[in-house]
Amino acid sequence: MLKTEKNRELTEKFNALYPGGHTNLRVSLEATQHRVFIVRAEGSRIWDVDGNEYIDYQGGLGPNILGHRHPEYVKALKDLLDTSSPCLGSGLFHTPDDIEVAEKLVKHVPCAERVKFCLSGSEAVQLAIRLARGYTGRPHFIRFGGHYHGWFDNIVGGMVDPNPKGKPYPFYDPDADPMTDPFFTKGRAPATDKESFLLPWNDADVLEDTLKKYGDEVALIHFEALVVNHGAMEPRPGFLQKVRELCTKYGIVMSIDEVITGFRTGIGGAQGHYGVTPDLATFGKAMAGGLPFSAVVGKAEIMEQLRDRSVLGPGTFNGNPLGMRAVLATLKILEKDNGAVYAKMEKVQKRLTDGLSAIAKKYGIPLRIQGARGLFYTAFGLDSDKVVYTEEDMANMDAGKMIQFWAALKQEGISALLGGRWYMSIAHTDEDVTRTLEAADKVMATL
Ligand SMILES: Cc1ncc(COP(=O)(O)O)c(C=O)c1O
Repeated sequence: MLKTEKNRELTEKFNALYPGGHTNLRVSLEATQHRVFIVRAEGSRIWDVDGNEYIDYQGGLGPNILGHRHPEYVKALKDLLDTSSPCLGSGLFHTPDDIEVAEKLVKHVPCAERVKFCLSGSEAVQLAIRLARGYTGRPHFIRFGGHYHGWFDNIVGGMVDPNPKGKPYPFYDPDADPMTDPFFTKGRAPATDKESFLLPWNDADVLEDTLKKYGDEVALIHFEALVVNHGAMEPRPGFLQKVRELCTKYGIVMSIDEVITGFRTGIGGAQGHYGVTPDLATFGKAMAGGLPFSAVVGKAEIMEQLRDRSVLGPGTFNGNPLGMRAVLATLKILEKDNGAVYAKMEKVQKRLTDGLSAIAKKYGIPLRIQGARGLFYTAFGLDSDKVVYTEEDMANMDAGKMIQFWAALKQEGISALLGGRWYMSIAHTDEDVTRTLEAADKVMATL
């Protein structure tokens, strides 16, 4: 059982001062009533103010691919702070790291011919949209149901309209509950409701039909190749290739959102994993190993609009030296020995997911585990052998059991993300897996 006294005291103070939290997505309110205040982190472990130790599978929401305080990462940041400045004014001064980092991105990411840095994934996505509109001169962009691309008005929330009258704009319902539209927010600029078309994921016919009618109005198709934000829905075989083919046919910019998958599923991101090369890609999270940094990378002819300033992408902190050093250190660790750390992480992850599946089988609990290298989902209520491609495939998901499992594991010192998402890091060990499986066995026996 976790000790809670100090965490509880700080939670009360926190909730009085902060309306919501640092990020306030529509997660179970219950979770926000028991905040955990961390005072130490090392490798795969974190410790809170009450002295509880956790194996951390939250990964800082994705960035912590290295685990915590990787010695080479810490040294690289310290060296920079000991000798120079974390901020030199975006575009006023540069550091030699700028060159090394960009060369590595161009080397590892298939679509990257030019690179441009920002700070958050949300910002990178907005820049991709602007670049695509500038390049094509067209107003709309396409996104897919269940995908998440940041909190800005034009891209957050909304549901696929099953019977659109005319253009397939997203459908916003202020009364929709968080399970139906988890990213709905009041306060969006009304005009942004009609910037995007929102289509069902993995439906090539609907996409083709939409483009036949409105293709010459579409600047960009932006999407997660593996929909990590919604059950890790995989692309159906051939779907990504179809998107590529249609984008080329209609002169649309194809943009893969690699904010989660970038440098997590592998050094080449999801595009490397699936072997489909977009025109643009957005990166964030794991790229800088824990510091706020993001990027848009892509084809020279689109990115070159930034050089003549026909498209602007300003930002005081863009390319700041500390962030650059963080990206450089992260990539150096990940690319070493031909990506040996990825191979090790994959092995540890497989032992964990195989173990969780076996325990669920032992207790007769339906559990589908799905994901890619570096991340996976535990979806209770679903057939273990059936791949999740669409929202319909998730219809029988048992959200109640998922919360129960998550909360009980937390009591055992295992910290996964609410909603069944698990992030791996290169710091996770076989011993972590053994402890996690012991805890999972104890908890599943009671579900
Ligand atoms: C796929 C994807 N794109 C974009 C974003 C937005 O990134 P940020 O939260 O850094 O603004 C996220 C955040 O979770 C994401 O998962």
